[in-house]
Amino acid sequence: MTQATRIDGKAFAARLRETVGEHALAFAQKTGRKPGLAVVLVGEDPASQVYVGSKHKACIAANMESFEHRLPADTSEADLLALVEQLNADPAVDGVLVQLPLPPQIDEQKVIATIDPDKDVDGFHVISAGRLSVGQEGFVPCTPLGCIMLLKDLHGDLSGMDAVVIGRSNIVGKPMAQLLVDANATVTIAHSRTKNLAEVVRRADIVVAAVGRAEMVRGDWIKPGASVIDVGINRLPPEPGKEKGRLVGDVAYDEAAAVAGAITPVPGGVGPMTIAVLLRNTLVAAHRNASLDPPEGL
Ligand code: GUN
Repeated sequence: MTQATRIDGKAFAARLRETVGEHALAFAQKTGRKPGLAVVLVGEDPASQVYVGSKHKACIAANMESFEHRLPADTSEADLLALVEQLNADPAVDGVLVQLPLPPQIDEQKVIATIDPDKDVDGFHVISAGRLSVGQEGFVPCTPLGCIMLLKDLHGDLSGMDAVVIGRSNIVGKPMAQLLVDANATVTIAHSRTKNLAEVVRRADIVVAAVGRAEMVRGDWIKPGASVIDVGINRLPPEPGKEKGRLVGDVAYDEAAAVAGAITPVPGGVGPMTIAVLLRNTLVAAHRNASLDPPEGL
């Protein structure tokens, strides 16, 4: 049996970070300042601490300024909103990212709504969603933008392809569907109430799985030769004698890889793209904020 091509998101992301770093250097030479990303973390969620640390290191490596703000878990909503407004007003800050989830006393939607849409490098603001929806210049959430980059790299043109997105979140499923439509694919959004999900997925030339359920998509759901993008990162319960369970995606990898034409692994597929695209969005924000044309082809 033939085996699917493994889509190497890790290598693609490394190349993107490198390219962004070169453009960031050129930006600094032109403007006298580096592109700047402010990341705000409230509380001590261990996963969030790891993400924020990775974003900081990636910024520095890509010749960008990183402004980290770590606030205590009992920070009030008013104090966080005041910080966001201060970052909005700071000309050294091109991108503002407030790490989610936030503690229960803080309304996430209110915080996101306070970020200047022109600094919304996460693409979570309703203005960003609206701009994507009507085709205006703005910011697209990093994970779906990373997925469409991998698909365009693989196929070139996605015109006329049948795509199924499993999951309808504001952060992944909905923007992913929009990006696929914009690339002239025919798109179905499937979700927990979809009837005959396996049959729906079996029609797809492109499957994007973003549901957060370990290995839910089975090999016999995949059309032979299809491209499979697995956004899921799920930890299985530990095997006996092990401290941690294995990380798996939303797709049963071995089964799907025996049928698909190409597939992203977990880890090493979509995951590494997210931070690389965040840097890309920050670079673009810096250019727009400095009234310069962003580099082409990014
Ligand atoms: N928490 C987990 N992923 C993300 C992300 O991409 N952006 C923000 N702001 N918070 C997150």
